[in-house]
Amino acid sequence: MVFATTPSYDRRASASLFSRLRTAAGQANPFPIYAELLARGEVVPAPWGGSVVTGFAACDGILRSRQWLEPDKEWRERQGPGTRWNAPSSREMSNTLAALNPPDHTKVRRAAGTFDRGTMERIGRQVNRTADRLLDAFTERIRTGEADISQLVCEELPVATIGDWLGLPQADWPRLRQLTHDQVFTQELLPSASQLALSDAATAELRTYFTDLVRDRRSHPGDDPITRWIQTWDAIEPDRDKADEAVYFLVLFVLLAALETTATLLSTMTLRLVESPERWGLIADNPDLVPGFVEETLRYDPPTHVISRVASQDCVLGGIEIRRDDMVHLMVGAAHRDPARHEDPDRFDPGRTPGHLAFSGGIHYCLGAPLARLEAQTLLRQLIRRLPRLTLVRPPSMAPRVAFRRLLNLDVALA
Ligand code: HEM
Repeated sequence: MVFATTPSYDRRASASLFSRLRTAAGQANPFPIYAELLARGEVVPAPWGGSVVTGFAACDGILRSRQWLEPDKEWRERQGPGTRWNAPSSREMSNTLAALNPPDHTKVRRAAGTFDRGTMERIGRQVNRTADRLLDAFTERIRTGEADISQLVCEELPVATIGDWLGLPQADWPRLRQLTHDQVFTQELLPSASQLALSDAATAELRTYFTDLVRDRRSHPGDDPITRWIQTWDAIEPDRDKADEAVYFLVLFVLLAALETTATLLSTMTLRLVESPERWGLIADNPDLVPGFVEETLRYDPPTHVISRVASQDCVLGGIEIRRDDMVHLMVGAAHRDPARHEDPDRFDPGRTPGHLAFSGGIHYCLGAPLARLEAQTLLRQLIRRLPRLTLVRPPSMAPRVAFRRLLNLDVALA
């Protein structure tokens, strides 16, 4: 098949939209920019190469199709030395579950297991206790003036939940949380050289921490998931060093996948609550809407706005020619506002029929989705049940990211 070259004016025209997406104003509210992108077609060429997909049906179809692959280790090597894909942090990530393709993915995902009902009930009781404790402290603070609920509550609940579950010493939680914030840049849309360097350093520290932890857990087994993963891998992999390495990559990825994303969900959900007294009233009077409120938060402004895949073969997508190995960036944050999928998509409506890609789709569907939902629903129930009405003091500042949303503060006061 011979391809015509994609017209260069297309790339130039979308370049200014992407520049706006990388400004502070664009990150505070990327949705008008997404609407402009979507108006140009559900697939548009990206100025830096590859394509950007903003239509819901196209994103959904790609996630479920075997024709589209994760950018795995071999793909990253093919991009050449000196590219971001061969930075040490990127090479490390290429060994983790979300960067594997079948058959490796199938094997590693099976070994990871799932959250069964008993585990969820046990974690649920723990999450309830932690949320209670955090809100006790928050209630004390808010009586004396404004307080940052993002730092005091939303950033704390996920690290306590994962820390308890994995059996990580509490003294290490703040450092691990900081390292996940630094590490994320290697997974960003277009990381700068200094962001990549930060990510490389964080990755190296996390490697040392978790390889030591796995070694320690092997000599002191307990009743915890890391011990169970060691037992599972020992049954699959006769080489103990390789088994420990497999467990290390799983624990590393679980921590990275679980902390920021969940903290962002909790902060964004709380923002939706405090920015509108009518909304607070609606949910307080109708606690049955709690699960719908969480799902709508995930649709309206998901923690991860971009998921990437590469083409396993030449094809045409939305009228755009794609070659094997080309990358497509699925702008799920934009796809969630696609009017072809959701009526009046810019309206926050906890009663709407759910439908989002916040947890991805297909074989890489988020392993931790039940846990993230549990934390968000627990926090929301407690917020509306036991807190006095709160109001937003100032709009939050956003971290300078496109793919991984992060509220740097959420300052609230008594209403
Ligand atoms: C609101 C919170 C969360 C969001 C928005 C989220 C989002 C995602 C997304 C988008 C993917 C797929 C990436 C891809 O398709 O390439 C993913 C995969 C994954 N997530 Fe989550 N996640 C969240 C919480 C968690 C938690 C709490 C855990 C662990 C306890 C977790 C563990 C994982 C794992 C292990 C994968 C890899 C699955 C695979 O590749 O087969 N996530 N997550």
